Amino acid sequence: MTCDVVVGGFWGDEGKGKIISYLVNKRQAKVVAKGGVGPNAGHTIVIKGKEYKLRMVPSGIGGSNVEKLLIGPGVLVNPEVFLKEIELTGTKGQSFVDPQCGIIGPEHIEIDRTDKFLTQTVGTSGAGTGPANQDRVRRVLKIARDIENLKPYLIDVPQEVNKAINNKEPVLIEGTQATHLSLFHGTYPFVTSKDVTASSICADVGIGPTKITDVVLVFKAYVTRVGEGPLPNQLSEEETRRRGWIEYGTVTGRLRRAAPFNVELAKRSIMLNGATKLALTKLDIIYPNEVGKRHYDDLETKTKKWISGIEEELNMKFHFIGTGPADVDIIDRE
Ligand code: GTP
Ligand code: IMP
Ligand code: MG
Repeated sequence: MTCDVVVGGFWGDEGKGKIISYLVNKRQAKVVAKGGVGPNAGHTIVIKGKEYKLRMVPSGIGGSNVEKLLIGPGVLVNPEVFLKEIELTGTKGQSFVDPQCGIIGPEHIEIDRTDKFLTQTVGTSGAGTGPANQDRVRRVLKIARDIENLKPYLIDVPQEVNKAINNKEPVLIEGTQATHLSLFHGTYPFVTSKDVTASSICADVGIGPTKITDVVLVFKAYVTRVGEGPLPNQLSEEETRRRGWIEYGTVTGRLRRAAPFNVELAKRSIMLNGATKLALTKLDIIYPNEVGKRHYDDLETKTKKWISGIEEELNMKFHFIGTGPADVDIIDRE
C-alpha cells in the first residue's frame, strides 16, 4: 500500500493537479489529503473532457476509489470558495476540512490586495493567505470550528489519513505552490507565506515522514513564474509567445513569465524534498509532435535525447511524462 506526496519543483503551476488526477486512479487512492498554503493555488485538471479549476477541493475528484477529499489543518480555507467548489465538483459527503484549518476573511483579502509591499514588491495572488497566516502566527485567526456553515464539513484530517495508512489503504497527499516559493527555501522575499516542501506538506495533513512511500516531484518542461522575483534566463514575452509557452495564472489571470528548463533549480528541489520519483509535464508544448502519446518508445529520437540529457544531469529518471492536459495524457515509466 502506498502513501505518496506530490510536490512542485519550480515556482508553482508545474501541473501537480494533473499528476494527482492520474495517480489517484493508478494508485486507487481512497483518501486524498491536501497540504500547502491555501486558495492562492489553482490546479487545472481535465477529466473525461471536462475542465475543473480548483483552489480548495483536492485534485483527486476523478478517483474511482476515492472516499474522502481532505484539507489538512495546515491549510487556510476560504469558506466561500470551498463551498462553491463542492457544488461544482459534486463532492458533498466526500470533501472535508479539518476543524483547525485557518479561515481567510474579507479583511485578509483586502490587505493582500492593497498593501503596497505585498502587491507591488512580492506580487502576491491577492487571495488573502499571507495576511491570514500572519494572524494565525499571532494566534488571533479564526479556525474552521468557529464557522457555522462549515460545521457539516468538519473532520479530524490527521486521524482520517493515519487511519487509512494503518488500514493499508492507498493515500495521496497533494502539495500546492512549489519549492522555490517556500518561505524558508525560496527566493525570499519573493515567496509565499509558508514552507511548501514535502516535509511541510506532510505536516500540514498530520502525517509523519516515516509514513511516506514516495515523494513525487513535479517539473514542467519549462519554468514559469507569476508575481515578482528572479527568474534565471527569463524569455521576453515575444519569445515566450513564439515558443508557444504563454500561460495565464489560474487564480489571478496574470501572465506567467517563462524560461527554459533549469537543471540547477531542479537539483536543489530534488535535494530539499528528498524526491524519490520525478514527473515532467507539458512535453507536448515543447515538442508538439508528441501530443497525447502514452508510450516512451513512441517518442521521436530528438525528444528522447532531450529527456535523457536532463535525466543524466539530475541523475534521476522521469517516471511520469505529461503529453497533454487530461489525466490520461501521460507516459508512465514506473
Ligand atoms: P499550483 O498548485 O497553483 O502550483 O498548480 P498546478 O501545479 O496544479 O498547475 P496548474 O494547474 O496551475 O498549471 C498547469 C497547467 O498545465 C494546467 O492548465 C494544466 O491543465 C496544464 N497541464 C498539466 N500537464 C500538462 C501536460 O502534460 N500537457 C499540457 N499540454 N498541459 C498540461
Ligand atoms: P501569495 O502566496 O499569494 O502570498 O503570493 C506570493 C508569491 O507566490 C507570488 O509570487 C505568487 O504569484 C506566488 N504563488 C503563490 N501560490 C502560487 C501558486 O499556486 N502557483 C504559482 N505561484 C504562486
Ligand atoms: Mg496553479
